[in-house]
Amino acid sequence: MKIVILNGSARKGNTYACVKAFSEGAGVENEIDIIEADKVDVSPCKGCGACICTNGCVAKDDSNAVVDRIVAADMIVFASPIYWWGITGQLKTIIDKCYCRGTHLKNKKYGLILCAGSPTDDIEYELIKKQFDEMGRYLAWDMVFYKKYYANGKDEIANKPQIISELKALGSSLR
Ligand SMILES: Cc1cc2nc3c(=O)[nH]c(=O)nc-3n(C[C@H](O)[C@H](O)[C@H](O)COP(=O)(O)O)c2cc1C
Repeated sequence: MKIVILNGSARKGNTYACVKAFSEGAGVENEIDIIEADKVDVSPCKGCGACICTNGCVAKDDSNAVVDRIVAADMIVFASPIYWWGITGQLKTIIDKCYCRGTHLKNKKYGLILCAGSPTDDIEYELIKKQFDEMGRYLAWDMVFYKKYYANGKDEIANKPQIISELKALGSSLR
């Protein structure tokens, strides 16, 4: 499979550690493309409608190049820290821009990785999962996995071998 991973974190912290472990496993049998949401130049969707959900974005930035990479994938992995009960603004900005090729994004597999500073029974994880459930239903996506991790310190997940092994194994189970 072609797997595109959208990393919503700007720092090399917990989400980065998850993405790294997952992609090391998944990269054995799959083609991996990692999009660092904070590093690309994607402006927020202005809802101008010029794309008519098919033709791409009129913005003169990385929007089309980034959305093309997502359209090309068989599977999309969304990885994000939780900021204020939601995903990060950088990741949401890219998701909003997917509107410009919405009709080309159907029937994909997807996975969700969330890291946050509250225990995993907090409502925030469920709120975000529901958002992705509905997005997935709208686009006929198939959720392959959903992982949530409680981590506060920047290197907390990198120092938890059990989580790193779990994510590597998850990645290598995919093909
Ligand atoms: C702006 C901001 C907002 C945050 N909001 C939440 C929140 O709503 N709930 C929560 O549990 N943690 C929140 N956190 C903590 C992060 O989710 C947590 O530290 C996470 O492990 C960071 O992931 P990263 O290392 O990949 O950046 C917030 C952190 C920041 C910087």
